[in-house]
Amino acid sequence: MKLAPRARKAVLTVHIVSSGAWIGIDVLVAVLVGVGLAGGSDAARGLALRALAEFVVAPMLISGLVCLGSGVLLGLATKWGLVRYWWVAVKLVMNVLLCVLIVVALQPGMADVGAAGVAIEAGQVPATDLSNLVFPPAVSLTMLAVATLLSVYKPGGRRRSRTAPRGVSGGTTRAMSEARPTVHA
Ligand code: HEM
Repeated sequence: MKLAPRARKAVLTVHIVSSGAWIGIDVLVAVLVGVGLAGGSDAARGLALRALAEFVVAPMLISGLVCLGSGVLLGLATKWGLVRYWWVAVKLVMNVLLCVLIVVALQPGMADVGAAGVAIEAGQVPATDLSNLVFPPAVSLTMLAVATLLSVYKPGGRRRSRTAPRGVSGGTTRAMSEARPTVHA
């Protein structure tokens, strides 16, 4: 599969915007968690936790899936491939892992977080231990920062490939020429 240069640029734009949106939503989550755990009045803490439970997971998952879909399209439609280069393969694994974590680890706890927000607003002690809430934004922001670094620097080094003949660099695009020399398995 090959994309025309204009189409590739359009998909790349979608990819960059969705990854930026994802990072932005993660920053918002970090702020809401910070306020929810340590932010001043009960009203502010409760509101932050209810907003976190109510509004965050869906846009986060959507931006993650758009980033994944556009990234896979870019990988398949360019000479970077999906698993040909370490930097793309690692991003693929991290993107899938983060989306799975949103569904299986983050979403199921949101009802309790919302209930904790309501309890705090009512001046009660929440039934749920909220301290684990620091992990989702910390883990996600770290992985997305690593993914962004990998995307920008595109560290050289091809994965072992039975189809790639020795001595063929396989890259002629602008982005390929910016990458460090490839190391063949
Ligand atoms: C984990 C979250 C991800 C982030 C934060 C991210 C970020 C980025 C950014 C900022 C660029 C632009 C780099 C540049 O033009 O110099 C880019 C390009 C690219 N990304 Fe991602 N990406 C992610 C996931 C993925 C996934 C899952 C794939 C595919 C499996 C992928 C494949 C690519 C490819 C092939 C390019 C180069 C496109 C080209 O130059 O034609 N990315 N990514």
